[in-house]
Amino acid sequence: MTMTETAEIPFYLRGNFAPIMDEATAFDLPWDGVIPPELRGLYVRNGPNPKAGDPGHWFAGDGMLHGVRLERGKAAWFRNRWVRTRAFVEGAALVDENGNVDHSVAVANTNIIGHAGRFFALVESSWPTEVTGELETIGTCNFDGRLSTSMTAHPKLDPASGELHFFGYRFLPPFLTYHRLDAAGTLVQSEVIEVSGPTMIHDFAITERHVIFMDLPIVFSFERAMSGRGFPYEWSDDYGARLGVMPRGGSNADVRWFEIAPCYVFHPFNAFEDGERIVLDVARYDHLWRGGPETFTPAHLHRWTIDLAAGSVGEARLDDRPIEFPRVDERRTGRRHRYGYAVTNAASVGEQAMHLVKYDLVTGAATTHDFGSGCMPSEGVFVPAGDRAGEDDGWVLLYVYDAARNGSDLVILDAARFTGPPVATIHLPQRVPFGFHGNWIADAA
Ligand SMILES: [Fe+2]
Repeated sequence: MTMTETAEIPFYLRGNFAPIMDEATAFDLPWDGVIPPELRGLYVRNGPNPKAGDPGHWFAGDGMLHGVRLERGKAAWFRNRWVRTRAFVEGAALVDENGNVDHSVAVANTNIIGHAGRFFALVESSWPTEVTGELETIGTCNFDGRLSTSMTAHPKLDPASGELHFFGYRFLPPFLTYHRLDAAGTLVQSEVIEVSGPTMIHDFAITERHVIFMDLPIVFSFERAMSGRGFPYEWSDDYGARLGVMPRGGSNADVRWFEIAPCYVFHPFNAFEDGERIVLDVARYDHLWRGGPETFTPAHLHRWTIDLAAGSVGEARLDDRPIEFPRVDERRTGRRHRYGYAVTNAASVGEQAMHLVKYDLVTGAATTHDFGSGCMPSEGVFVPAGDRAGEDDGWVLLYVYDAARNGSDLVILDAARFTGPPVATIHLPQRVPFGFHGNWIADAA
Protein backbone atom coordinates (compact mmCIF):
# COMPACT_ATOMS: atom_id res chain seq x y z
CA MET A 1 0.00 0.00 0.00
CA THR A 2 1.11 3.51 -0.62
CA MET A 3 -0.05 6.95 0.32
CA THR A 4 -0.60 9.59 -2.31
CA GLU A 5 -2.07 13.04 -2.47
CA THR A 6 -5.77 13.37 -2.98
CA ALA A 7 -7.04 15.64 -5.72
CA GLU A 8 -7.99 18.41 -3.31
CA ILE A 9 -5.76 18.55 -0.26
CA PRO A 10 -2.34 16.89 -0.08
CA PHE A 11 -1.83 14.51 2.87
CA TYR A 12 0.69 16.83 4.53
CA LEU A 13 -2.01 19.48 5.06
CA ARG A 14 -4.69 17.11 6.40
CA GLY A 15 -5.46 15.50 9.76
CA ASN A 16 -2.57 15.65 12.21
CA PHE A 17 -0.18 16.56 9.40
CA ALA A 18 -2.02 19.90 9.16
CA PRO A 19 -0.14 22.88 10.60
CA ILE A 20 -1.19 24.65 13.77
CA MET A 21 -1.24 28.42 13.91
CA ASP A 22 -0.84 29.00 17.65
CA GLU A 23 2.47 29.37 19.43
CA ALA A 24 1.69 28.24 22.97
CA THR A 25 3.53 28.67 26.25
CA ALA A 26 2.36 26.64 29.24
CA PHE A 27 3.93 26.03 32.65
CA ASP A 28 3.65 23.14 35.13
CA LEU A 29 1.99 20.68 32.81
CA PRO A 30 -0.31 17.99 34.23
CA TRP A 31 0.91 14.41 34.06
CA ASP A 32 0.08 10.83 35.00
CA GLY A 33 2.65 8.42 36.44
CA VAL A 34 6.11 9.37 37.66
CA ILE A 35 8.47 11.61 35.69
CA PRO A 36 11.96 10.27 36.41
CA PRO A 37 13.85 12.98 38.32
CA GLU A 38 17.02 11.99 36.44
CA LEU A 39 15.47 13.63 33.36
CA ARG A 40 16.75 17.20 33.56
CA GLY A 41 16.69 18.91 30.20
CA LEU A 42 14.66 19.60 27.09
CA TYR A 43 12.85 17.18 24.82
CA VAL A 44 12.31 19.02 21.54
CA ARG A 45 11.09 17.93 18.13
CA ASN A 46 11.04 19.69 14.78
CA GLY A 47 8.66 19.37 11.84
CA PRO A 48 7.14 21.22 8.92
CA ASN A 49 4.33 23.62 9.79
CA PRO A 50 3.69 25.85 6.79
CA LYS A 51 2.80 29.39 7.78
CA ALA A 52 0.35 29.73 4.91
CA GLY A 53 -0.80 27.84 1.85
CA ASP A 54 0.66 24.76 0.24
CA PRO A 55 4.49 24.68 0.19
CA GLY A 56 4.35 22.08 -2.60
CA HIS A 57 5.80 19.15 -0.66
CA TRP A 58 5.75 17.66 2.85
CA PHE A 59 9.46 18.47 3.18
CA ALA A 60 9.07 22.16 2.31
CA GLY A 61 6.98 23.65 5.14
CA ASP A 62 8.37 26.18 7.63
CA GLY A 63 9.92 24.48 10.66
CA MET A 64 8.17 24.51 14.02
CA LEU A 65 9.76 23.32 17.28
CA HIS A 66 7.73 21.69 20.06
CA GLY A 67 9.57 21.38 23.36
CA VAL A 68 8.93 20.18 26.91
CA ARG A 69 11.32 21.03 29.73
CA LEU A 70 11.65 18.38 32.46
CA GLU A 71 13.25 19.00 35.86
CA ARG A 72 12.79 17.80 39.45
CA GLY A 73 10.27 15.17 38.37
CA LYS A 74 7.98 17.76 36.81
CA ALA A 75 7.21 19.11 33.37
CA ALA A 76 8.22 22.73 33.86
CA TRP A 77 6.97 24.07 30.54
CA PHE A 78 5.81 23.46 26.99
CA ARG A 79 6.61 25.81 24.14
CA ASN A 80 6.07 25.56 20.41
CA ARG A 81 7.70 28.11 18.13
CA TRP A 82 8.17 28.57 14.43
CA VAL A 83 11.80 28.83 13.47
CA ARG A 84 11.87 32.45 12.33
CA THR A 85 14.12 32.03 9.34
CA ARG A 86 14.51 34.49 6.46
CA ALA A 87 12.18 32.25 4.48
CA PHE A 88 9.55 32.58 7.22
CA VAL A 89 9.98 36.29 8.01
CA GLU A 90 10.84 37.78 4.60
CA GLY A 91 9.68 35.09 2.19
CA ALA A 92 13.31 34.92 1.02
CA ALA A 93 14.15 32.27 -1.60
CA LEU A 94 16.77 29.55 -1.16
CA VAL A 95 17.46 29.54 -4.91
CA ASP A 96 17.20 32.69 -7.05
CA GLU A 97 16.13 32.87 -10.70
CA ASN A 98 19.73 32.35 -11.81
CA GLY A 99 20.11 29.16 -9.80
CA ASN A 100 22.27 30.72 -7.07
CA VAL A 101 21.77 29.21 -3.61
CA ASP A 102 21.62 31.38 -0.49
CA HIS A 103 22.38 29.06 2.43
CA SER A 104 21.22 31.70 4.90
CA VAL A 105 17.66 30.94 3.74
CA ALA A 106 16.27 27.88 5.48
CA VAL A 107 12.98 26.29 6.38
CA ALA A 108 14.86 24.64 9.30
CA ASN A 109 12.15 21.98 9.65
CA THR A 110 13.90 18.63 10.03
CA ASN A 111 15.83 18.19 13.25
CA ILE A 112 17.19 20.03 16.29
CA ILE A 113 20.43 19.24 18.06
CA GLY A 114 22.56 20.61 20.86
CA HIS A 115 26.32 20.95 20.35
CA ALA A 116 28.92 22.82 22.38
CA GLY A 117 26.21 24.56 24.39
CA ARG A 118 24.30 25.80 21.34
CA PHE A 119 21.00 24.65 19.82
CA PHE A 120 20.62 24.29 16.05
CA ALA A 121 17.47 23.71 14.00
CA LEU A 122 18.50 21.90 10.84
CA VAL A 123 17.36 21.38 7.27
CA GLU A 124 19.63 19.81 4.68
CA SER A 125 19.34 22.62 2.12
CA SER A 126 20.81 25.35 4.30
CA TRP A 127 23.05 26.48 7.11
CA PRO A 128 21.87 25.60 10.63
CA THR A 129 19.58 28.05 12.40
CA GLU A 130 20.56 28.71 16.01
CA VAL A 131 17.77 28.92 18.58
CA THR A 132 17.74 29.52 22.32
CA GLY A 133 16.95 26.98 25.01
CA GLU A 134 13.45 28.49 25.01
CA LEU A 135 13.13 27.94 21.25
CA GLU A 136 13.42 31.58 20.17
CA THR A 137 15.28 32.07 16.88
CA ILE A 138 18.75 33.66 16.90
CA GLY A 139 19.66 33.23 13.23
CA THR A 140 21.66 31.15 10.77
CA CYS A 141 25.15 30.02 11.68
CA ASN A 142 28.03 29.28 9.30
CA PHE A 143 30.65 28.62 11.97
CA ASP A 144 32.55 31.91 11.63
CA GLY A 145 32.32 31.85 7.85
CA ARG A 146 33.94 28.43 7.53
CA LEU A 147 30.87 26.47 6.35
CA SER A 148 30.65 26.80 2.58
CA THR A 149 27.83 24.32 2.01
CA SER A 150 24.52 23.38 3.58
CA MET A 151 24.46 21.06 6.60
CA THR A 152 22.64 17.76 6.78
CA ALA A 153 19.90 17.51 9.39
CA HIS A 154 21.58 14.30 10.61
CA PRO A 155 25.06 15.11 11.94
CA LYS A 156 26.74 12.39 14.00
CA LEU A 157 28.24 13.12 17.42
CA ASP A 158 31.15 10.84 18.25
CA PRO A 159 30.49 9.88 21.87
CA ALA A 160 34.20 9.50 22.67
CA SER A 161 35.72 12.58 21.02
CA GLY A 162 32.72 14.91 21.16
CA GLU A 163 33.35 15.78 17.51
CA LEU A 164 30.35 16.42 15.28
CA HIS A 165 30.63 14.84 11.81
CA PHE A 166 28.36 16.04 9.03
CA PHE A 167 28.14 16.83 5.34
CA GLY A 168 26.39 19.13 2.90
CA TYR A 169 25.07 18.24 -0.54
CA ARG A 170 23.97 20.41 -3.45
CA PHE A 171 22.68 20.14 -6.98
CA LEU A 172 25.74 21.72 -8.61
CA PRO A 173 29.34 20.47 -8.34
CA PRO A 174 30.88 19.84 -5.93
CA PHE A 175 27.85 17.74 -5.02
CA LEU A 176 29.02 16.45 -1.64
CA THR A 177 31.28 17.93 1.05
CA TYR A 178 32.17 16.32 4.37
CA HIS A 179 32.74 18.48 7.46
CA ARG A 180 33.81 18.02 11.06
CA LEU A 181 33.29 20.26 14.07
CA ASP A 182 35.48 19.78 17.12
CA ALA A 183 33.94 19.36 20.56
CA ALA A 184 34.11 23.12 21.11
CA GLY A 185 32.06 23.77 17.96
CA THR A 186 34.85 24.95 15.63
CA LEU A 187 34.74 23.75 12.03
CA VAL A 188 38.10 22.01 11.67
CA GLN A 189 37.81 19.94 8.49
CA SER A 190 35.99 20.17 5.14
CA GLU A 191 36.60 17.71 2.31
CA VAL A 192 34.95 17.59 -1.10
CA ILE A 193 33.81 14.01 -1.81
CA GLU A 194 33.46 13.18 -5.50
CA VAL A 195 30.22 11.55 -6.55
CA SER A 196 28.96 11.23 -10.09
CA GLY A 197 25.72 13.18 -9.80
CA PRO A 198 23.48 15.42 -7.71
CA THR A 199 21.71 12.92 -5.46
CA MET A 200 19.62 13.62 -2.37
CA ILE A 201 21.80 12.53 0.55
CA HIS A 202 19.69 12.79 3.66
CA ASP A 203 21.83 11.01 6.25
CA PHE A 204 25.04 9.02 6.67
CA ALA A 205 26.90 7.01 9.33
CA ILE A 206 30.16 6.90 11.22
CA THR A 207 32.06 4.11 12.94
CA GLU A 208 35.08 4.33 15.22
CA ARG A 209 37.40 4.36 12.18
CA HIS A 210 35.28 5.31 9.18
CA VAL A 211 32.70 7.65 7.67
CA ILE A 212 30.10 6.04 5.38
CA PHE A 213 28.32 7.96 2.62
CA MET A 214 25.22 6.74 0.76
CA ASP A 215 25.10 7.77 -2.92
CA LEU A 216 21.65 6.50 -3.88
CA PRO A 217 19.44 7.03 -6.94
CA ILE A 218 17.20 9.91 -5.88
CA VAL A 219 18.57 12.44 -8.33
CA PHE A 220 18.06 16.18 -8.78
CA SER A 221 15.80 16.96 -11.74
CA PHE A 222 16.40 20.28 -13.50
CA GLU A 223 13.13 19.67 -15.33
CA ARG A 224 11.22 19.46 -12.05
CA ALA A 225 13.08 22.41 -10.59
CA MET A 226 12.35 24.61 -13.61
CA SER A 227 8.70 23.59 -13.64
CA GLY A 228 8.23 24.74 -10.06
CA ARG A 229 6.35 21.51 -9.35
CA GLY A 230 7.01 20.51 -5.77
CA PHE A 231 10.22 18.78 -4.80
CA PRO A 232 12.96 18.71 -7.48
CA TYR A 233 14.20 15.14 -6.92
CA GLU A 234 13.06 11.79 -8.29
CA TRP A 235 14.09 8.16 -8.62
CA SER A 236 16.55 7.24 -11.38
CA ASP A 237 16.69 3.75 -12.87
CA ASP A 238 20.11 4.60 -14.35
CA TYR A 239 22.14 6.17 -11.54
CA GLY A 240 22.91 3.00 -9.58
CA ALA A 241 23.73 2.92 -5.86
CA ARG A 242 26.99 3.00 -3.91
CA LEU A 243 28.28 3.17 -0.37
CA GLY A 244 31.44 5.21 0.14
CA VAL A 245 33.78 4.34 3.02
CA MET A 246 36.29 6.99 4.09
CA PRO A 247 38.77 6.53 6.93
CA ARG A 248 38.16 9.12 9.63
CA GLY A 249 40.59 11.96 9.09
CA GLY A 250 40.91 10.96 5.43
CA SER A 251 39.87 12.72 2.24
CA ASN A 252 38.25 12.02 -1.11
CA ALA A 253 41.33 10.13 -2.31
CA ASP A 254 40.84 7.62 0.50
CA VAL A 255 37.17 6.86 -0.19
CA ARG A 256 36.40 3.31 -1.36
CA TRP A 257 33.08 2.93 -3.18
CA PHE A 258 31.03 -0.26 -3.05
CA GLU A 259 28.22 -1.00 -5.49
CA ILE A 260 24.93 -2.11 -3.93
CA ALA A 261 21.48 -2.94 -5.23
CA PRO A 262 19.54 0.28 -6.07
CA CYS A 263 17.40 1.46 -3.17
CA TYR A 264 16.87 4.51 -1.02
CA VAL A 265 17.64 5.13 2.64
CA PHE A 266 16.68 8.26 4.49
CA HIS A 267 17.92 6.99 7.86
CA PRO A 268 20.39 4.49 9.25
CA PHE A 269 20.00 3.14 12.76
CA ASN A 270 23.76 3.06 13.26
CA ALA A 271 26.99 1.52 11.95
CA PHE A 272 29.88 -0.26 13.64
CA GLU A 273 33.17 -2.03 12.95
CA ASP A 274 33.32 -5.82 13.11
CA GLY A 275 36.94 -6.66 12.35
CA GLU A 276 37.48 -5.96 8.65
CA ARG A 277 33.76 -5.52 8.15
CA ILE A 278 31.44 -2.59 8.69
CA VAL A 279 27.85 -3.33 9.69
CA LEU A 280 25.27 -0.70 8.76
CA ASP A 281 21.62 -1.12 9.81
CA VAL A 282 19.15 1.06 7.92
CA ALA A 283 15.49 1.64 7.05
CA ARG A 284 15.66 0.71 3.35
CA TYR A 285 13.19 1.46 0.56
CA ASP A 286 13.34 -0.95 -2.39
CA HIS A 287 12.64 2.16 -4.45
CA LEU A 288 11.19 5.59 -3.76
CA TRP A 289 9.65 8.42 -5.76
CA ARG A 290 9.56 6.49 -9.01
CA GLY A 291 7.59 8.87 -11.21
CA GLY A 292 7.75 11.71 -8.72
CA PRO A 293 8.28 12.67 -5.11
CA GLU A 294 4.61 12.58 -4.07
CA THR A 295 4.34 8.89 -3.20
CA PHE A 296 5.91 7.18 -0.22
CA THR A 297 6.37 3.40 -0.17
CA PRO A 298 7.35 1.37 2.94
CA ALA A 299 10.89 0.91 4.22
CA HIS A 300 12.24 -2.10 6.12
CA LEU A 301 15.03 -2.95 8.54
CA HIS A 302 17.97 -3.95 6.38
CA ARG A 303 21.57 -4.80 7.22
CA TRP A 304 24.50 -4.00 4.95
CA THR A 305 27.75 -5.76 5.81
CA ILE A 306 30.65 -4.10 4.02
CA ASP A 307 33.58 -6.50 3.76
CA LEU A 308 36.61 -4.25 3.38
CA ALA A 309 38.95 -7.18 2.69
CA ALA A 310 36.78 -8.84 0.06
CA GLY A 311 35.52 -5.56 -1.44
CA SER A 312 31.90 -6.68 -1.31
CA VAL A 313 28.66 -5.81 0.47
CA GLY A 314 26.28 -8.36 1.96
CA GLU A 315 22.61 -7.38 2.08
CA ALA A 316 19.85 -8.80 4.25
CA ARG A 317 16.32 -7.79 5.21
CA LEU A 318 16.01 -8.42 8.93
CA ASP A 319 12.30 -7.76 9.40
CA ASP A 320 9.19 -7.40 7.27
CA ARG A 321 7.51 -4.62 9.26
CA PRO A 322 7.35 -1.25 7.53
CA ILE A 323 9.47 1.14 9.61
CA GLU A 324 10.82 4.66 9.69
CA PHE A 325 12.47 7.02 12.17
CA PRO A 326 15.07 4.51 13.37
CA ARG A 327 17.06 5.44 16.49
CA VAL A 328 19.58 3.85 18.83
CA ASP A 329 21.16 4.76 22.14
CA GLU A 330 23.43 7.50 20.84
CA ARG A 331 26.16 6.60 23.28
CA ARG A 332 26.54 3.70 20.80
CA THR A 333 26.95 5.92 17.71
CA GLY A 334 29.64 4.25 15.62
CA ARG A 335 29.90 1.40 18.12
CA ARG A 336 28.20 -1.99 18.15
CA HIS A 337 24.54 -1.53 19.04
CA ARG A 338 22.15 -4.14 20.31
CA TYR A 339 18.87 -2.27 20.43
CA GLY A 340 17.09 -0.10 17.90
CA TYR A 341 13.76 1.74 17.97
CA ALA A 342 11.51 2.76 15.07
CA VAL A 343 7.98 3.74 14.21
CA THR A 344 6.22 0.85 12.54
CA ASN A 345 3.07 0.97 10.54
CA ALA A 346 0.52 -1.50 9.33
CA ALA A 347 0.49 0.22 5.97
CA SER A 348 2.58 3.29 5.26
CA VAL A 349 3.22 6.81 6.44
CA GLY A 350 0.12 8.47 7.83
CA GLU A 351 -2.05 5.39 8.23
CA GLN A 352 -3.73 4.77 11.54
CA ALA A 353 -2.20 1.59 12.99
CA MET A 354 1.15 2.94 14.13
CA HIS A 355 3.23 1.44 16.92
CA LEU A 356 6.76 1.84 18.21
CA VAL A 357 8.99 -1.21 17.72
CA LYS A 358 12.09 -2.13 19.72
CA TYR A 359 14.53 -4.46 18.00
CA ASP A 360 17.00 -6.69 19.78
CA LEU A 361 19.50 -7.10 16.96
CA VAL A 362 21.45 -9.77 18.84
CA THR A 363 18.56 -12.18 19.42
CA GLY A 364 16.45 -10.98 16.49
CA ALA A 365 13.50 -10.32 18.77
CA ALA A 366 11.15 -7.43 18.16
CA THR A 367 8.58 -6.06 20.59
CA THR A 368 6.04 -3.37 19.94
CA HIS A 369 4.41 -0.78 22.13
CA ASP A 370 0.78 -0.14 21.25
CA PHE A 371 -0.34 3.29 22.44
CA GLY A 372 -4.00 2.42 22.07
CA SER A 373 -6.65 2.79 19.41
CA GLY A 374 -6.23 5.97 17.41
CA CYS A 375 -3.03 6.94 19.24
CA MET A 376 -0.10 7.46 16.92
CA PRO A 377 3.56 7.69 17.95
CA SER A 378 6.28 9.85 16.51
CA GLU A 379 10.01 9.10 16.56
CA GLY A 380 11.17 7.59 19.86
CA VAL A 381 14.28 9.09 21.48
CA PHE A 382 16.26 6.92 23.89
CA VAL A 383 17.63 8.63 27.01
CA PRO A 384 19.95 6.64 29.29
CA ALA A 385 19.18 6.49 33.02
CA GLY A 386 22.73 7.62 33.76
CA ASP A 387 26.23 7.76 32.33
CA ARG A 388 26.94 4.14 33.27
CA ALA A 389 23.50 2.76 32.43
CA GLY A 390 23.25 -0.24 30.11
CA GLU A 391 22.11 0.08 26.52
CA ASP A 392 18.39 -0.19 27.24
CA ASP A 393 18.56 1.06 30.84
CA GLY A 394 16.64 4.28 30.40
CA TRP A 395 13.61 5.74 28.74
CA VAL A 396 12.14 6.33 25.33
CA LEU A 397 10.56 9.77 24.91
CA LEU A 398 8.12 10.63 22.16
CA TYR A 399 5.03 12.63 21.28
CA VAL A 400 1.86 10.59 20.82
CA TYR A 401 -1.16 11.99 18.99
CA ASP A 402 -4.65 10.86 20.09
CA ALA A 403 -7.05 11.28 17.19
CA ALA A 404 -10.14 10.85 19.36
CA ARG A 405 -9.48 14.07 21.26
CA ASN A 406 -7.23 15.74 18.67
CA GLY A 407 -4.53 16.19 21.32
CA SER A 408 -0.99 15.07 22.08
CA ASP A 409 1.04 13.84 25.03
CA LEU A 410 4.73 13.50 25.76
CA VAL A 411 5.01 9.82 26.68
CA ILE A 412 7.93 8.33 28.61
CA LEU A 413 8.40 4.56 28.22
CA ASP A 414 10.71 2.32 30.22
CA ALA A 415 13.03 1.05 27.47
CA ALA A 416 13.69 -2.26 29.24
CA ARG A 417 9.97 -2.88 29.90
CA PHE A 418 9.01 -1.71 26.48
CA THR A 419 5.55 -3.21 26.20
CA GLY A 420 4.55 -2.10 29.71
CA PRO A 421 2.49 0.96 30.56
CA PRO A 422 4.22 4.33 30.18
CA VAL A 423 6.31 5.54 33.10
CA ALA A 424 4.72 8.94 32.63
CA THR A 425 2.30 10.65 30.28
CA ILE A 426 2.56 14.45 30.17
CA HIS A 427 -0.47 16.23 28.80
CA LEU A 428 0.25 19.02 26.34
CA PRO A 429 -1.96 22.08 25.89
CA GLN A 430 -2.39 21.42 22.15
CA ARG A 431 -1.69 18.77 19.54
CA VAL A 432 1.75 18.30 18.02
CA PRO A 433 1.48 17.73 14.26
CA PHE A 434 3.29 14.75 12.76
CA GLY A 435 6.81 15.89 12.02
CA PHE A 436 10.34 14.68 11.70
CA HIS A 437 13.10 14.44 14.29
CA GLY A 438 13.71 15.39 17.88
CA ASN A 439 16.27 14.98 20.60
CA TRP A 440 16.71 15.03 24.32
CA ILE A 441 19.14 17.81 25.21
CA ALA A 442 20.23 17.15 28.79
CA ASP A 443 21.25 19.97 31.09
CA ALA A 444 24.99 20.24 31.65
CA ALA A 445 25.97 18.14 34.67
FE1 LIG B 1 15.54 12.63 8.57
